[in-house]
Parts: sequence; C-alpha cells; structure tokens
Amino acid sequence: MQTPTDRIQRKVLVVDDDKAMREMVVALLEDAGHGAEQSANATEAIDKLRDHDFDAVLSDIRMPGLSGIEMLGEIRDLRPETPVILMTAFGSIDSAVEAMQAGAFDYVTKPFQRDAVLVSLERAFERRSLQQENRQLRRAVDRTTSFGEMIGASASMHEIFALIRRVSDSRATVLISGESGTGKELVARTLHFSGSRADKPFIPVNCTALPEGLMESELFGHVRGAFTGAVASKRGLFEEAEGGTIFLDEIGDMSPGLQSKLLRVLQDRQIRPVGGNMSRPVDVRVITATNRDLRADVQAGSFRKDLFYRLNVIPIDIPPLRERPDDIPHLADAFLRKHGEGRNYTLAPATAERLTRCPWDGNARELENVIERAIAFSQNERLEPEDIQLPDEPDALDASNDTDRFLERALGMQLTLNELSKLYTNHVLESTNGNKARAAKILGINRRTLYRWGFAPNDSEHEEPTHA
Ligand SMILES: Nc1ncnc2c1ncn2[C@@H]1O[C@H](COP(=O)(O)OP(=O)(O)OP(=O)(O)O)[C@@H](O)[C@H]1O
Ligand SMILES: [Mg+2]
Repeated sequence: MQTPTDRIQRKVLVVDDDKAMREMVVALLEDAGHGAEQSANATEAIDKLRDHDFDAVLSDIRMPGLSGIEMLGEIRDLRPETPVILMTAFGSIDSAVEAMQAGAFDYVTKPFQRDAVLVSLERAFERRSLQQENRQLRRAVDRTTSFGEMIGASASMHEIFALIRRVSDSRATVLISGESGTGKELVARTLHFSGSRADKPFIPVNCTALPEGLMESELFGHVRGAFTGAVASKRGLFEEAEGGTIFLDEIGDMSPGLQSKLLRVLQDRQIRPVGGNMSRPVDVRVITATNRDLRADVQAGSFRKDLFYRLNVIPIDIPPLRERPDDIPHLADAFLRKHGEGRNYTLAPATAERLTRCPWDGNARELENVIERAIAFSQNERLEPEDIQLPDEPDALDASNDTDRFLERALGMQLTLNELSKLYTNHVLESTNGNKARAAKILGINRRTLYRWGFAPNDSEHEEPTHA
C-alpha cells in the first residue's frame, strides 16, 4: 500500500573518503529515485546532520579521522531517529558486529550488491515512517480535549479515553467509581455510544430509587398475577436493554436480596421475571457506578464480595476535578457553549484562573452549575471574576449545610406538615435574623400570614396598610 510518506523523496547522506566509491553509491541511489548528498569524512557529515534531517546515513566504517563507528555514536546523540547503515569490507565480521552493537541500523558488505543496499535502505525508511507516525499519533492524543461528549485534557482523562476506546466493544462488566459529579454516568454513556452496541438501547437505572420488591420487577419484569396489581405481565429493563447496555447507578445501595439475584444474572446470562418459573436468556452489558468505596462495603459485609468481583472486571476510576485542574478551563468552555444558547461566551483570563483554583467538591456538575448561573446573570459575553459566584463562598455553603441538618432533624421527628411549616418558618426567620418581611418573601407568603401563624410583629414592625 502506498502511503503519502512513500511518495516523498527520501534523502540519504553518503559518507566515504573514497571519492569514486561515494559517487558510485550516489548514482545508485539517484537511480532508485532517492535523493543523496555526500561527505568525504565523519566531521563534515556531522556538520551536515546538524543542519539537515536525513532519512538515512550510509557510511563507510574505515575512514581517516573519526571512524564510522565513532561517527555513529555522535549521530545517536544528535539525531537519535536517523538510521545509520555501515559499509564494511567483505569478511570483516568483527567490525560488522561492532557496528550493530554501537547502534547501527544495519550493515552491508563491500563490494556490495546493489539490491542489498536498496533493501536495507527501504527497511530503514519504513522504520523511520513508523516512528514519525507514532509521534504524530502521540501528539494528536496529547492535544485531544474531548472524546464523544467527554471533555478532558489531563493525563488521567486521556487514560480514561484510551481505556474507553479499548473496552467499548467488549461485553465485560465495568465498575465506574468517583465522587459525586465527576461524570460517572457520562463515562457509562460514552462507553455505550462509542462501542458496537451503540445502535441498541442504553438503559440507566438508579438502584436507590425503589424498594427492593419493586426494583426486582423493574429489572427482571413480572408475570401476570405475580403480585396484587400485576394484571398483565411486564418486561423488565434487562429485556428492554437486549443487545445494549444497562447502567446500574449507585450500585452500592442495592439491597442484599437483589445483589444475589443480579449475581445470578451475571453468571447465567439469564433473567427470571418475578412470579415466573422460566428463565430467559439476555445479551446485555452491565455497567455499574458508585460514589462509595465498594471495597470497604465488601469488607464491612454490606456488599457481596463475589458480586463485586463480577462487576469490577474493568474498573474505571474518575479522579476528583481538583486533582486534574488542567481540565477545568476546557470544561468551563464546553459548559459555556452548552448553556450559552448560541452566544459566544468566554472567560476572562482572571476568571479562568480563579476557576482553576477552586476546590470543586461537587466536581464537574458543580462547575457546570456555576457557569450556568453566571450566564444567566451576566450582561456581557466575556465573564469577569465578579460575574461568577464561586462555590466556596462561605454564605452559600453554610446555608446548605444548615438546611441538610434541618431536614434530617425534621425527618427523624416524623412531623406533620403543619408542624413542619412552623419549624421551617422558624428556621427561615433565624436565617433572616428575625426580619419577617424578608422571611415572608422567602416563604412565598404574606407577612400577615406569618403573624396569623403566631409569629407576632416586633414593636418596630408596622403592619402594612391593607389593600383590597
Ligand atoms: N469530563 C466531562 N466532560 C463534559 N461534561 C462532564 C464531564 N464530567 C462531567 N460532566 C458533566 O457534569 C454533569 C455531571 O456528570 P454525571 O451526571 O455523569 O456525574 P456523576 O458522577 O454520575 O454524578 P453523581 O455521582 O452525582 O450521580 C453532567 O452534566 C455531565 O455532562
Ligand atoms: Mg450519576
């Protein structure tokens, strides 16, 4: 096959102190369609190599001054990728061995056969092309900032891209782990949509969402009459995903009962609908994700060890965003485009710099939210630092922690809605330092409703005049 590089004329540097010999070799090369230059000694040759890149060097070994072998050492330093072929006198096996040990690409014996030289040169050119191609590929990968919908410029993201490419066609299970918002679901989608199953369904399932019984029938289906209300039989999500991928999110929350059933599905490649007595074969790739330390759950006994090993055939660990700051500006740009509704939003350099220094506990999702909010509030397409509300601003953090703790307490106390409204109203009043007008606004009610609920006005507060 002819590749473009084959058609480029190759240039060879011929080094020999014997003028007649040199010219003979040059003529031979030109005859074969190659370009050739000549040097009468090693020092001259090295000077030429310093300024020009040759595709190969063809040199005599025995020359006055620097020998061919000594020159070889210099070329290895100067142009490590340039192949050097040495010409040795017939029968001088020792110097041939020495040449190869010193790093020559090949040697030919003099007086030589035309073909022997040309064949050796062709091999040298081929190796050089391969090296060049490899280098280009490497450079292309290093410059890549996306794979499918995934953005990433960091070394760890590039590794993930490469891994996805390598395993997207396989049916092996994948366990994706990473903190919340690191892009676990996105990795699962990318695995599916870049592989051979792309034209078959991708079915995401959240394992926390439903109680065990319901979850089982969701996953595996049920037969008619399997339980009260099962008036017709229903296909499960595994069957819906036939030929494609099922993505079991938050797998660490799966109940022990369901864990055993899932293990059986992975072992037998068959599912059995709830209430049914027949198993049906399924061809589904199982990808799971968790933001927990599943190994620790296995140690603690809350997650089945055998299931863990079945699920963890290909582990993909997404590092938190703060450990790959190189990705932040690229992600920010992508989110600006995603939410910019066709407008050409950019980050001022100072803004990009500040984003890179944030801790991003909520990872890419948090960054996305921050960008989305900034776009909504900014008048300009170029976002300055003051247009961006950074996540570690203490106010925002404290309030959300308070709210979490508040809700936790409320749930623990099993309150009625009425009691909850009172408690929440108190909570909001606390957060406004007792300012009822502001509290009423947050609660979405009239200030007088607040008074009616028993939150009496302070002396300093006057009831608003009543309008019709
Ligand atoms: N590398 C990335 N490139 C582009 N977008 C990303 C990347 N990582 C995450 N996102 C975006 O961030 C958001 C959160 O990602 P995703 O839902 O996949 O995270 P997650 O790890 O599943 O989070 P959780 O643990 O909370 O479920 C999505 O909008 C996703 O598109
Ligand atoms: Mg998720």
